[in-house]
Amino acid sequence: MSPASPTEVCADESEKKTSAHNSPRNASVKETDTPETIAEAYQKLNLGRDISSVRTVSTSVDAGNCVDGNDKEGEQFKKNSTEKAVVVPTAEEMTKNCNSVVAENSEFEVVSNINGGGSGKTTSVLKPSPSVGMSLENLVEVSSVASGKNSGSENGSATAMMDEAWDLLAQSYVDFKGQHVGTLAAVDNSSEALNYNQVFVRDFVPCGLACLMKNNADLEIVKNFLLKTLHLQGWEKRIDNFTLGEGVMPASFKISYDTQRQKEVLQADFGGTAIGRVAPVDSGFWWIILLRSYTKCTHDYSLSELPEVQRGMKLILNLCLSDGFDTFPTLLCADGCSMIDRRMGIYGYPIEIQALFFFALRCARQMLKPEHDGKELIERIDKRITALRFHIQNYYWLDFTQLNNIYRYKTEEYSHTAVNKFNVIPESIPDWVLEFMPLRGGYFIGNVSPARMDFRWFLIGNCIAILSSLATPTQATAIMDLIEERWTDLIGEMPLKIVYPALEGHQWRIVTGCDPKNTRWSYHNGGSWPVLLWLLTAASIKTGRPQIAKRAIELAEQRLSKDGWPEYYDGITGRYIGKQARKNQTWSIAGYLVAKLMIENPSNLLMISLEEDKKITKPKLTRSASWTF
Ligand code: GLC
Repeated sequence: MSPASPTEVCADESEKKTSAHNSPRNASVKETDTPETIAEAYQKLNLGRDISSVRTVSTSVDAGNCVDGNDKEGEQFKKNSTEKAVVVPTAEEMTKNCNSVVAENSEFEVVSNINGGGSGKTTSVLKPSPSVGMSLENLVEVSSVASGKNSGSENGSATAMMDEAWDLLAQSYVDFKGQHVGTLAAVDNSSEALNYNQVFVRDFVPCGLACLMKNNADLEIVKNFLLKTLHLQGWEKRIDNFTLGEGVMPASFKISYDTQRQKEVLQADFGGTAIGRVAPVDSGFWWIILLRSYTKCTHDYSLSELPEVQRGMKLILNLCLSDGFDTFPTLLCADGCSMIDRRMGIYGYPIEIQALFFFALRCARQMLKPEHDGKELIERIDKRITALRFHIQNYYWLDFTQLNNIYRYKTEEYSHTAVNKFNVIPESIPDWVLEFMPLRGGYFIGNVSPARMDFRWFLIGNCIAILSSLATPTQATAIMDLIEERWTDLIGEMPLKIVYPALEGHQWRIVTGCDPKNTRWSYHNGGSWPVLLWLLTAASIKTGRPQIAKRAIELAEQRLSKDGWPEYYDGITGRYIGKQARKNQTWSIAGYLVAKLMIENPSNLLMISLEEDKKITKPKLTRSASWTF
């Protein structure tokens, strides 16, 4: 990459030495090289649980099929309401449970574990890269040892940290007419509030999940939030003389007191007061995803079945499914329309939005009722799911083989036989990609459009692709392989890099418009965001690689609380507290809580993860899988 511009703040200077010393190429994380039983894996997670206290959740189910209208996962989504069996098996039964997961999954092996505590009994062993695609319904539920707000970490300091996190989360609660309706983005009295005194839709998602996952779940705040934001969706949204689409959900809202009318009033931002004046495309998708999590957790279908909730979902989806000039099934977006809400060159078809779109389509597919015009919408959703999946799995996927294919692309190809469909010029491959791409691993790149591939790695898009089963099991495994292989680059000293690498020098000037907040390795431009821990943890558990999450959580535990729960960290390895980071940033707190709640009780993953549609014809990937090397 080009040298840093003199105008840039060099957050990374002092870290360069360390990072050169700890070259990512030398630092490989080989935790998964040690085969472990599932029970051992969780024991290693410092859970210290007696495996006799492990409960099974429900019987095995096939993955759902959303496409032919025979949505088994959707059916299961409902059936589970009556099926939540709380059986407390013995250690022997636990081994049997593990083995039944293993038996369904060809990439697990059942071997005689001669070192298995000297017992010599047969146990399931995780291979170095255990498979994804195991039936999520088979996840074992580890019962919580402690009651009350703490979910029972064994490690004393982690327990204290959990307690502190729950307290801080409670302090961020926002009330409207006597009810909790959301959480403030940050409770930091030491710096200017800006818009951090608002309830952000995307920020509330990990908070809502923490509330759903904790013992004595706090369901009301999630329900109130969903209804309150739905109410805001109904407002007329106007920026200058232009009226926004009916389905747009707010980026954030706040509550103020109208002294004249002597009552509390809501104020919502649909992008009209945000930096760059961009509407948040992600808000509506997150709203649908959280609605599904709430329903999955509570088995309370009365909320999602309310006519106004059904209408809200339809309005969001109508915004994205309307016919236009598009030749791609992906969604065309402006820069700054998601978590990265400033100009960062993500305009076009950013992976984060495409993955969230796919996830929301699948969640809505489970909740929409076919009555009235619902059937027709469901058909459109099914078609879009199939087309979007094909497009992303084929054109966004990059591994070493594909990189080599692109490097050798011919250009100026016309007609249907074109291999280089988007006319990508090989010279546009940035130098860093070759160094970054391991022989083992792969990922979905940031953006694909005519003659433009944004090769940057974005964490959210890749993790959401795993959780929504947009990634094939093979691709999901390869993404986790990449995270292991490039640990120093992507995790470093504080999880997790939002994007890799940072834009520097000339590129930074052109792409960000010289944004002084997004200098290299800071904030959205290669900064590290603790909130992302929950997404990594969910993806790690889903792919059978909890060791990855455990390691990242341990890193976060070393500093997060001591540093005052910052919004983000700066520097190549994330060593500095972010230059303008708020302290007590609520989603940093909630992200940690959700990560802990899932690693301690993996069945919590079921609230946020979707299984693969096994019956959908899988697109043929023309390139070889990453582990053939
Ligand atoms: C910043 C982030 C955005 C977040 C908001 C509130 O604007 O870029 O993603 O939602 O802060 O935390």
